[in-house]
Amino acid sequence: MNDTLEIISEAVEVSKSYSSRLGFQTGSTKKGLVQAVDRASLYIAAGESVGLVGESGCGKSTLGRLLLRLETPTDGDILFQGEDITRIKGRRLRRKRRQMQMIFQDPASSLNPRFTVENTLTEAITAHKKNLRGRALKAHIAALLNMVGLPVSSLDRNPHQFSGGEKQRIAIARSLAVEPKFIIADEPVTALDLASQEQILSLLESVQRELKVAFLFIVHDMKTVRRMCNRTAVMYLGRIVECAPTDLLFKTPKHPYTNALMLSQLSKNPDLRENLHLLPGEPPSPLDPPTGCHFHPRCPYTDMRCKTLVPQPRPVGENHWVRCHYDFEGNQKSAPKGIDAPDLVPEKKPPKRSKLKKK
Ligand SMILES: Nc1ncnc2c1ncn2[C@@H]1O[C@H](COP(=O)(O)OP(=O)(O)O)[C@@H](O)[C@H]1O
Ligand SMILES: [Mg+2]
Repeated sequence: MNDTLEIISEAVEVSKSYSSRLGFQTGSTKKGLVQAVDRASLYIAAGESVGLVGESGCGKSTLGRLLLRLETPTDGDILFQGEDITRIKGRRLRRKRRQMQMIFQDPASSLNPRFTVENTLTEAITAHKKNLRGRALKAHIAALLNMVGLPVSSLDRNPHQFSGGEKQRIAIARSLAVEPKFIIADEPVTALDLASQEQILSLLESVQRELKVAFLFIVHDMKTVRRMCNRTAVMYLGRIVECAPTDLLFKTPKHPYTNALMLSQLSKNPDLRENLHLLPGEPPSPLDPPTGCHFHPRCPYTDMRCKTLVPQPRPVGENHWVRCHYDFEGNQKSAPKGIDAPDLVPEKKPPKRSKLKKK
């Protein structure tokens, strides 16, 4: 971690497990525990926009909820502006939470259907600035609407009178009402049509640029992180497996899983664009994750270490680290094609699938 950065939000070796009924039913050896997040460390600095990417179910939303202390970790620490907030409760926690906001995938379920836009924004603003009333309050509301591109005529309407994209604008306005230091956007455009997706991403870009709020974007596609985030963390089955400045991650992805994500999502070749289920092996169950490196059953470069030892984060470049046993710099004889090569971007020819098969 860089000492000169002002760290806003940070997870330090954070874990979260849930007990799962399914586990009990199937007699899982893991005593029905789902390890949703497994010793994840991640920080978001002031003004930064960090991406958290990975397949559905890998623990992204759980890590987001832990950072906001909507959940308490099973292990590890959560810091907000350098203060340990892992176990704080009650009014202290509520005060902290106001400085952090979450924008959800489904804006409809996060807005009160009985509240007009004016009610929603008034409630949010006055929670932050208790004494704001009358004209000053109205001016604040008008400024928020303007920021998110909604007309003043929206004020006395209820959520069901708006489109999905407009609802998301209201949710964004509400999150900005408390002048937060940190916003997590959890799949903010996944539920929207294509045109609204583009508009909401542009809006979030301008919010980030103008207000310099620290952002964590939780997404499952690499295109959005490339566009929105200056740093990106890749998550696989509860663990962050790679983290790097986004440019660097796209130029020199190291983890075989990061490569697989890029191949499947960014290649123009439809055979390679198919989802990760085409990688060797099945996506493992989070109830009974593989030993050692969780990715080893699907990885083309697995050796004995991968099956038995959990890889620890190790640096592979400036502000770039990876959790993989593979020696990227050393024995290039068995080096995977494309691991270091920037030929994973769409314009260039990606390596043949057969070369990715397990030996
Ligand atoms: N409240 C919960 N109770 C039990 N299991 C949960 C709970 N929340 C999440 N999980 C499990 O934790 C894992 C990670 O979930 P989640 O964080 O939602 O993943 P993602 O956001 O990457 O799709 C999944 O296996 C999910 O089923
Ligand atoms: Mg999620």
